[in-house]
Amino acid sequence: MNPTNPFDLSGRKVLFSGATGVLGTSMALYLAQQGAELLLLGRSPQKVNALRDQILAQGGKAWGYYADVTDEKSLEKVAQLVSAQHESIAILINAAGGNMPGAVIRPEQTFLDLDTEALKQVVDLNYLGTVFPIKAFLPLLLKNNSGTILNISSMAASRPMTRVMGYASSKAAIDNLTKWLAVELATKYGPSFRVNALAPGFFLTEQNRTLLTEIDGSLTQRGNQIISHTPMNRFGQPEDLLGALHWLCSDASSFVTGSVVAVDGGFSAYAGV
Ligand SMILES: NC(=O)c1ccc[n+]([C@@H]2O[C@H](COP(=O)([O-])OP(=O)(O)OC[C@H]3O[C@@H](n4cnc5c(N)ncnc54)[C@H](O)[C@@H]3O)[C@@H](O)[C@H]2O)c1
Repeated sequence: MNPTNPFDLSGRKVLFSGATGVLGTSMALYLAQQGAELLLLGRSPQKVNALRDQILAQGGKAWGYYADVTDEKSLEKVAQLVSAQHESIAILINAAGGNMPGAVIRPEQTFLDLDTEALKQVVDLNYLGTVFPIKAFLPLLLKNNSGTILNISSMAASRPMTRVMGYASSKAAIDNLTKWLAVELATKYGPSFRVNALAPGFFLTEQNRTLLTEIDGSLTQRGNQIISHTPMNRFGQPEDLLGALHWLCSDASSFVTGSVVAVDGGFSAYAGV
């Protein structure tokens, strides 16, 4: 802990899944600018290496690792590699996740039309895709003597939204897991191990673009409904997450564990009237 700056992240090793996504890239670049050292984990070596090279070109430190977060065996192999190259990590961010078109119930459909295979894939990605990396990389966090895990939830967890049942349920499981694991780590390993989640509101990204906007960029009915339930009257921008990210990753939040922090322009506070 830096006694003069509890927000200091320099030299902290961050293992980051989903780092090449829209929100992940913004967060990874920001953390690297703050002096953190990024261990980027993704499925596509091409994308991971491009982000690694961007961080290196900006004078930061980064390494690339490749695995599907739903594949326990390849995560274990990555953990062995990381252990050989870095010994320990200080922060684990689980940002791999998202919805899938097949798991969305279209307006003309009902629950009875639910594609259960697509449902399983969404639950696997969002829930097991967070549990498996935690299981694989927790030993590396424990070796550091202090550490923090940051999961990514969603507004859909606490305010279940129409049509995206599987996504909403699996993000609700992330909120529950965050609290469960916060207790588990603090009581079994000590108070210097923390688990929190960020719950972004609505950010226009590839996975929700067609739900929220038309081809010409205007809002869909759903997009309009969301904006009218967001007191700040806009979608989030990736950089809106960076302050909360920084706080939760740093010692400035050392008494915060088991929290799900909304960054949502007031969406979760608004009853609609
Ligand atoms: N965009 C939003 O409005 C929003 C809102 C709330 C929560 N979130 C959550 O934020 C996180 C990041 O989302 P985003 O908007 O940047 O989406 P994104 O699709 O741009 O990023 C998701 C990342 O996860 C990776 N990924 C997907 N499946 C994977 C797998 N099986 N193994 C390894 N990596 C995998 C993708 O390659 C990508 O890098 C997700 O958990 C998402 O659910 C997003």
